[in-house]
Amino acid sequence: MAETFRIGLLGHGTVGSAFEALLAERADAFVPITGMRPEISGVLTRSRGDFEEILANADLVVELIGGIEPARDYVLRAMQAGKHVVSANKQLLSQYGEELWACAREHGVQLRFEGAVAGVVPVIRVLQESLAATRVERIHGIVNGTTNYILTEMASRGLSYDEALRQAQELGYAEADPTDDVTGRDAAAKMAILARLAFSTPVHLDQVVYEGIEHLTGEDMEYAKDLGLGLKLIGTAERVDAGISVRVHPAFLYPGHPLASIHGPFNAVTLESDTITEVTLSGPGAGGPQTATAVLGDVVSAMIPPASTPETTEALTVVNDIESAFYLHMEVADRPGVLAQVAELLGMQGASIRSVVQKGLGENARLVMILHPLLESRFYAAVRLISQLDFMRAEPRAIRVIDEEFT
Ligand SMILES: NC(=O)c1ccc[n+]([C@@H]2O[C@H](COP(=O)([O-])OP(=O)(O)OC[C@H]3O[C@@H](n4cnc5c(N)ncnc54)[C@H](OP(=O)(O)O)[C@@H]3O)[C@@H](O)[C@H]2O)c1
Repeated sequence: MAETFRIGLLGHGTVGSAFEALLAERADAFVPITGMRPEISGVLTRSRGDFEEILANADLVVELIGGIEPARDYVLRAMQAGKHVVSANKQLLSQYGEELWACAREHGVQLRFEGAVAGVVPVIRVLQESLAATRVERIHGIVNGTTNYILTEMASRGLSYDEALRQAQELGYAEADPTDDVTGRDAAAKMAILARLAFSTPVHLDQVVYEGIEHLTGEDMEYAKDLGLGLKLIGTAERVDAGISVRVHPAFLYPGHPLASIHGPFNAVTLESDTITEVTLSGPGAGGPQTATAVLGDVVSAMIPPASTPETTEALTVVNDIESAFYLHMEVADRPGVLAQVAELLGMQGASIRSVVQKGLGENARLVMILHPLLESRFYAAVRLISQLDFMRAEPRAIRVIDEEFT
């Protein structure tokens, strides 16, 4: 008989119940690998179980409650008691990661969190282990399946944002309250965690600049098609001259970019470095059984020690004003000199135009441009001036463009 490895399970909702079912199905398969048979020794929910009792009877604690408290308190207490912890809690790790990793180090236990970023896509393990030998320069990620589903439906079926959101809710891809997803906050938490691991420097969720998809229109999708571009909610973490930049915003992609072909609720992360060019990982980004697969993978890894907590070897500055290429959409009265005046204001800020599309006539004309990369502060200074021109009929709309392609 194999020895029992006892798991205390905190939370028994979508992921927690899927974890229990998956463990029951797969437990025997781990005996030859680990010499032990993992088994749930206690479950805590709001109405069931006692934390102290569960802790006393566990070799490892799985935290699937979510949110900050009481999850933070339970995770700290478990590690202080010498237990390994596995969590899928991106909010907790992106805000209290430093405290938790310090606690794990102090007590010589593992804190694993593969399920916190991009569901079953094994990006944490790849960053910490497989690519440990390379200096990652940049990460681009589609790390929120809800928004990717909405944008896919808007682009492929011509749905409005509201129609696509409603459909996502009906199919269970979006919560009843989708705020964290559609504002980009959920993706920002995941990018904070990825940046922390890639650049060995503390990154807090509050340092991530994020922008959501609520203001995107079907018209932006139409122009994207005309210009040969796809629109995605992209998380970026990259080294820049003055430090690092971590941000989330809608961005246009050219078809040769590896993330351009990621559709529906899927997630994908592209890791770039000089030596390896790029590695892209993709797969289901959420869902009970999918996330439970990542969580159980972490449990098995913790049964085969050791794993390191992220070290702080750098003290990099998180920079907000960085260079981007832009799509600029303007509703204008079609008069002589419109293009020249817009181009002059852009030129004064050092912006140069890569391509232009003009549609419509008279009072109903649209001028859409793609600009070469320039500092965001300079671009927005030009946009403020352009918005005051007397032929502008609405506020100009700007969306970033990621202009590299890997072909
Ligand atoms: N759902 C996904 O697709 C997904 C994907 C990736 C990561 N995650 C992460 O996985 C974690 C769990 O998500 P989920 O979707 O499974 O959440 P969920 O369905 O809301 O389940 C939460 C569970 O935690 C329990 N709980 C809540 N507050 C508690 C408290 N104060 N004390 C004890 N138990 C408490 C709930 O108890 P009751 O049963 O009594 O309500 C429930 O069993 C979160 O960190 C989430 O971000 C989820």
